[in-house]
Amino acid sequence: MVKKLLAMIAGAAALSCGQTQAEPPTAANGGKTLVVYFSATGTTADAAKMLAEATDGTLYAITPKEPYTAADLDWRDHHSRCYVEMHDPSSRPAMSGTVENIDEYTTVYIGFPIWWDTYPSIIATFIEAHQLQGKELIPFATSGGSGISTSVSNLKKNYPTLTWKRGLLLNGMSVQQIRGLLK
Ligand SMILES: Cc1cc2nc3c(=O)[nH]c(=O)nc-3n(C[C@H](O)[C@H](O)[C@H](O)COP(=O)(O)O)c2cc1C
Repeated sequence: MVKKLLAMIAGAAALSCGQTQAEPPTAANGGKTLVVYFSATGTTADAAKMLAEATDGTLYAITPKEPYTAADLDWRDHHSRCYVEMHDPSSRPAMSGTVENIDEYTTVYIGFPIWWDTYPSIIATFIEAHQLQGKELIPFATSGGSGISTSVSNLKKNYPTLTWKRGLLLNGMSVQQIRGLLK
């Protein structure tokens, strides 16, 4: 009986010291950077590649199950795919695959083209398909001129329990300029 009690106390002590639990990854203990992006026509993809170079991050493309055609992207047509998706808050366009080892990353850059002054619905699909709690999330975007602030406030409003950092608008930037922006 005494032996059993001692074994239980030893077990509880080991648990409270964290010996049996894995340390969460942080930048200090090897946590890594992931650069995730969605790009419909290639501009955000170019920016994401430069950002991955500047941060030494792993690049991951969010790929729509059904690629967007030029007709799908016609924002003037109220029946186009992107118009319909972006005017339906519950729309979650399907994507191919997920990041399997998301736990390894402590910093996740999330990039997109700005659509109607905000993030495309497929970014919501990505966020909701991954465990991002406790990670530093940095939105980045390219646009035809709009800033990123509305996108960031919408992300904060729609995912208030996630840790959102300052957004980065990467229109026309070089790797050197991106490095400067990150300092
Ligand atoms: C459906 C649609 C909506 C857009 N809405 C905006 C907008 O509100 N503000 C803006 O500055 N640019 C807007 N743009 C332009 C894109 O944000 C810009 O061209 C972006 O760099 C494209 O990135 P991508 O090549 O990675 O798809 C829009 C483009 C599309 C196709």
